[in-house]
Amino acid sequence: MDERKGIILIVDDIPTNLEVLMQFLEGAGYEVLVATDGESAIEQVEYAPPDVILLDVMMPGIDGFETCRRLKANPVSSDIPVIFMTALSDTVDKVRGFELGAEDYITKPLHQEEVVARVTAHLTLHRQKQEIQALRQQERLYYERLVKIKDNILSTASHDLKNPLTSILITVDMIRHYLPRDPDIVYKKLDTLQQEADRMYNLIVQLLDLARLESDIVLRRQALSLTSWMEGNINYVHPQVDDKQLNVIAQLPEEDITVYWDNERMNQVLQNLLSNAVKYTPVGGTVEVSAAVQGEDIHIQVSDTGLGIPAGDIPKLFTKFYRVNTRQHMAVSGSGLGLSIVKEIVHKHGGHVWVDSEEGIGSTFGFTIPIGEEILSE
Ligand SMILES: Nc1ncnc2c1ncn2[C@@H]1O[C@H](COP(=O)(O)OP(=O)(O)O)[C@@H](O)[C@H]1O
Ligand SMILES: [Mg+2]
Repeated sequence: MDERKGIILIVDDIPTNLEVLMQFLEGAGYEVLVATDGESAIEQVEYAPPDVILLDVMMPGIDGFETCRRLKANPVSSDIPVIFMTALSDTVDKVRGFELGAEDYITKPLHQEEVVARVTAHLTLHRQKQEIQALRQQERLYYERLVKIKDNILSTASHDLKNPLTSILITVDMIRHYLPRDPDIVYKKLDTLQQEADRMYNLIVQLLDLARLESDIVLRRQALSLTSWMEGNINYVHPQVDDKQLNVIAQLPEEDITVYWDNERMNQVLQNLLSNAVKYTPVGGTVEVSAAVQGEDIHIQVSDTGLGIPAGDIPKLFTKFYRVNTRQHMAVSGSGLGLSIVKEIVHKHGGHVWVDSEEGIGSTFGFTIPIGEEILSE
């Protein structure tokens, strides 16, 4: 249980009763609020909800029963346990109290230990109920998230996966048709098969990866040298850089620094940004990567002299499946999931992403991310 023992509201019209009760409940470590009639108790509960209410039955104005009925009818107070304080003889009263939704009763004259024992029992019960409700709520949110991910996968499957698959099926038919007469055409068709299968494979890998990122938040942080991390990722895109005869410039901090990131995940981030820069920059262009330390953060950016992005598309770039719909952009193969993955990973590391671009001139994609702290034990 937490350190706070709990707040108890005592409702009784007789000041001496209040005083005695207050004294020993405070002595037992509870915080005590008081009200001397039903109406003011109801009012008070609205703005300072207690954890338990001790309620006298016989009071001028609205009596304890009516007070209880109103408390239980109001969603704000309906969950707060009510314990009636009633004279020993009134069996009828006790039954009536329970019928109105009260949790318990204690008989007058009150015994100190009994009051404390019952209050404690109901507080514990009440807290456990609240914990269970919080867990249920969490489960519901988690479930809703999974449903959303599932819907996403289904809606993609119906478009982006069906198209290449249809193309594969048609190509297989063609191959069957041409095989006996024209092996050259068959070879070309095999290329198509390979391309379409690659497209599907990449899309499935990215989709599953994004679904995992969205449903699971565990990062495996480790100490990394910023310099080797960047160099490793730049090397990774070397073949494509060479193919397009691009000029790559890297600007690293003068002094190497240790960062505490999820290596695999952060590799994905930089590789996605670098491969976009390479993909969307025409032959002979320049890609520049830079990293700078600023206090507790690292700024990393990837600039290119490529196609650039129309202003209207910029706000939507980090949305799943979004691709710029110009002929030049669409001539490059892609799924539109890369930047969503980048954003998700950077956010998980406590950072944020941004983009600056001008159509026909080039783009800069960047992110700022905390250096992180070493985690000593998993
Ligand atoms: N460096 C860039 N230059 C121009 N356009 C870019 C660049 N990076 C991303 N884009 C645009 O943003 C879209 C989304 O990028 P991304 O999510 O990585 O998807 P993909 O690369 O699979 O198409 C791309 O389709 C492209 O139109
Ligand atoms: Mg991409």
